[in-house]
Amino acid sequence: MGLSDFTDLRTTIFACMELNLFETQVYTGRRQVLKQNFGNDGLILLLGNEDSSMNYKDNTYLFRQDSSFLYYFGLDVPMLAAIIDTDTGEEVIFGNELTIDDIVWTGTLPTVSEMASMVGISKTRPYAGIFHYVHKALTEGRKIHILPPYRPENKIKLAAWLNCSWDDIQDYVSKKLIMQVISQRVIKTPLEVAEMEKAVNISIDMMLSVIKHTRPGIKEYELVAKAHEVAAANNARLGYPAIITTHGQTLHTHYYGNTLQEGRMVLSDIGAENNMHYGGDLTRTFPVGKQFTERQKELYNVVLTAMDHAIGLLKPGTRYRDIHLAACTKLAEGLKAAGLMKGDPAEAVEAGAHTMFFQCGLGHMLGMDTHDMEDLGEPYVGYTETLKKESSIFGLKSLRLGRELQAGFVLTVEPGIYIIPELIDRWQAEKKYADFINYNKLNTYRDFGGIRIEDNFLITGTGYQLLGKYLPKSLEEIENLKN
Ligand code: GLY
Repeated sequence: MGLSDFTDLRTTIFACMELNLFETQVYTGRRQVLKQNFGNDGLILLLGNEDSSMNYKDNTYLFRQDSSFLYYFGLDVPMLAAIIDTDTGEEVIFGNELTIDDIVWTGTLPTVSEMASMVGISKTRPYAGIFHYVHKALTEGRKIHILPPYRPENKIKLAAWLNCSWDDIQDYVSKKLIMQVISQRVIKTPLEVAEMEKAVNISIDMMLSVIKHTRPGIKEYELVAKAHEVAAANNARLGYPAIITTHGQTLHTHYYGNTLQEGRMVLSDIGAENNMHYGGDLTRTFPVGKQFTERQKELYNVVLTAMDHAIGLLKPGTRYRDIHLAACTKLAEGLKAAGLMKGDPAEAVEAGAHTMFFQCGLGHMLGMDTHDMEDLGEPYVGYTETLKKESSIFGLKSLRLGRELQAGFVLTVEPGIYIIPELIDRWQAEKKYADFINYNKLNTYRDFGGIRIEDNFLITGTGYQLLGKYLPKSLEEIENLKN
């Protein structure tokens, strides 16, 4: 086979491959805004991810590109990086052409310059060229701005390029760049909202399949399989490991070995990430059998009431921290009516007593990442200079979003009640919140589990919009799905 045959083969195979991209102008427009707002201030270096080995080099995890790299450069391909020179406007993508071995084993792709042109970049260089580009900038005393690296392999590369230790990479992590990236990514454009709607709709189909297949005697992992089946059938993947458990009190368990038993509930927290890497994040809690018990119904409605109350408060200008606290008060009111809390609900929340039942935050930003942009720093994404995170207070330290809402934010609302026996034992021994918690009654709920209900919302100019089609959430609607 000659070289020209080989080139033909590459072209033929490429014709069958899909590079999932928005129109070129989407990426040039995003970079234009970045450059305009950044001003003349040295180099911006953005790293893509590379394949990550599972147990030996060539057995890799499913590739996931860095979300900020995807946002500005779109290319969902390993081992790329980009530099934007904010002084000259030059934009360069660094990447190596595939070797014949790469093509034999993993298939072909367009050349780096062909891919770069699809996202409006005319200059490309081999990957090793970054070292020289950065070295020259360093010797000229120019500034280099990077985002916080979260993968060890990227830290290794940065330390080599910047000629510094791992610890000193921090000196190049640029708050200015972080804030600029957040300011762009946090406002979802209609194009992005459309992708998120697709992801949420796939997530809903995953959830419906999980609910419909739930019955006594099967294992949790059989339901996990249903979630993956629906995601894969829609050219999607899970955006985070499924939480499908009969022990819903464990907020993020990934153990799937329990056998489902009549009388208990399943908490299913799952989300699809679609082919453009936008995600959904939904939770429903439902009975293993056909119906909830009376006890389950009572607390389910407490969570649902808190959720509906919180949703009604979603609008631009309102602090999400206040919505979180309003939902906590609704939970405390319902828990008091159920005999599990006592005293004044508002005072109980002020004291923090509700955290016996609701230990986490009401929700978080959602986008390409399930906790959108958490790699850039929760204090910057979910909080502001004037509203800082209260990271030492149980409950509030897990509230990832506190800031004033703006039109274009996409977020989750996910209140819950989690009955954790270990927490009951510890706090009862300490007589903690004894004025607000009815420990005698609570001890009769030790094997209750947990309930969470979660949907995804876009903040609009005047209020909110539920993302995706409606996923049943009332007691009756859930039971109807099982009958
Ligand atoms: N729903 C999973 C998470 O929020 O991490």
